[in-house]
Amino acid sequence: MDQDTFREQAHRAIEQIISYHSKLKTNELSVLPAVQPDYLRSLIPVSPPEKGQNPSEIQDDVESKIIPGLTHWQHPHFMAFFPANFSFPGLLGDMYSTAFTCAAFNWLCSPAVTELETIVMDWVAEMIGLDEAFRSTHSDGTTGTGGGVIQGSASEAVLTVMVAARERYLNSLVPEGADEDERWEIRGAAYGKLCVVISSEAHSCTEKAAMVLGIRVVKVAVDPDTLAISPLALKEKVKELKAKGWHPFFTTNTYGTTSTCAVDPFEEIEEALAEFPEVWKHVDAAYAGSFLVLPEFKPDAQKWKGYDSFDFNMHKALLVPFDCSCLFIRERKWLINALSLTPSYLRNPASESGRVIDYRDWQLPLGRRFRSLKIWFVVRTYGVEGLQRHMRRTLECGEYFSSLVRDRPDLFVVTVQERFGLTVIRVKPEEGGDVALGDRLTKEVARRVNEERNFFVTAAVSKGREIIRVVSGSENATKESMKVLFEDLVAKVGEVRKEITA
Ligand SMILES: Cc1ncc(COP(=O)(O)O)c(C=O)c1O
Repeated sequence: MDQDTFREQAHRAIEQIISYHSKLKTNELSVLPAVQPDYLRSLIPVSPPEKGQNPSEIQDDVESKIIPGLTHWQHPHFMAFFPANFSFPGLLGDMYSTAFTCAAFNWLCSPAVTELETIVMDWVAEMIGLDEAFRSTHSDGTTGTGGGVIQGSASEAVLTVMVAARERYLNSLVPEGADEDERWEIRGAAYGKLCVVISSEAHSCTEKAAMVLGIRVVKVAVDPDTLAISPLALKEKVKELKAKGWHPFFTTNTYGTTSTCAVDPFEEIEEALAEFPEVWKHVDAAYAGSFLVLPEFKPDAQKWKGYDSFDFNMHKALLVPFDCSCLFIRERKWLINALSLTPSYLRNPASESGRVIDYRDWQLPLGRRFRSLKIWFVVRTYGVEGLQRHMRRTLECGEYFSSLVRDRPDLFVVTVQERFGLTVIRVKPEEGGDVALGDRLTKEVARRVNEERNFFVTAAVSKGREIIRVVSGSENATKESMKVLFEDLVAKVGEVRKEITA
């Protein structure tokens, strides 16, 4: 494609993108698509084109074949899962990132890619109130021993730190002076007895990381009221496992669990695990971490001062488009010790001087994108104040929706304290109906809401009971859309109660 054609097509693409986003705002598109499985197969040829095609034909196909098959995550009626925010400044950052495409696995591969990432990750650490130990450069200008690195997802982040934790643990078992055979024998004997201890409410990403590494996962029940892990139960489990010859070496604790946004008691966990410093403590704040930009939540970040690693997804709530998971580590040497390999073709004077960061040693893949540009564009365009305004709106929409449902105790039960903009509800059966009927009603109401495609909510099970999760985090979210959803739910409860009775 020559530059003139690119200019023309790029202008058209920008216009299409703007038009798409304005249709979302004005509700011209339903949040859920109307297509059936395999819809695309009949619309796109089974074989690739032999000859190049005109890009405007492809753009037409985006309009006619792709957009109809999209679930619109930026739609004001998208209230399912957790958000995956888009923003125009984030898109600008992404455009430059792609325009400069470079694999940037070490400093020399593009010094700007490395250096901007180090700087903006320190900005992010400051913005969310993380302890100085998690920064590459402390606020007084001295070099720290920790730092942040952008990963693709919270799942990738937990797998990465689990590898670092495993190496830290296994190597600690090898006595000084052991030869290579002894080293691998000792490590090998312990490997099969490694285990990760998490709460039953922790996101499956920790379990998946352990699965990838072939490591056992042990779950600890949560407090039935708070749905947070009990520090005492965690400590007892670690003790019990050790007494049986197991090697518990890793725990993930959560700031905002997926089903109910529960928060684990970090300080109490740290105290309870003080006698087990070998256990790596990781904070998963994938969604709720973005709320730390707000002054009332920022002090929470001090609660994991003694943790080894912390991760949250700016690509969930904080307006940086997917993918941008911010992993911070207290001692970067554990990542580097576990992941650094330097074949001859990667050697270079800058890396060998020890004066530069090579982020390939802080992640699993070798190559990496210039993702810090997205953070840079977003944080500079909105400013911390703008990001706070956005997060406050998410909170306010949640509080408003929660107040509406609380005002109808005849129809709904709010099952857990609404937090971080998430409201979790159940439909109440009429007088005399039992919990099983409540389950049927809740499930059916959620099904009908989603079937209509005007709103998208999550139907899930928590504590063995059907629930509906409502969270609204896009930039397009408004109190008005929360009210319309509420009215829709009220109407559906009326319908469903009439049809389904004990
Ligand atoms: C608490 C929590 N942790 C981890 C994840 C997984 O995030 P990712 O898709 O970035 O791996 C989620 C996803 O919603 C989550 O809610």
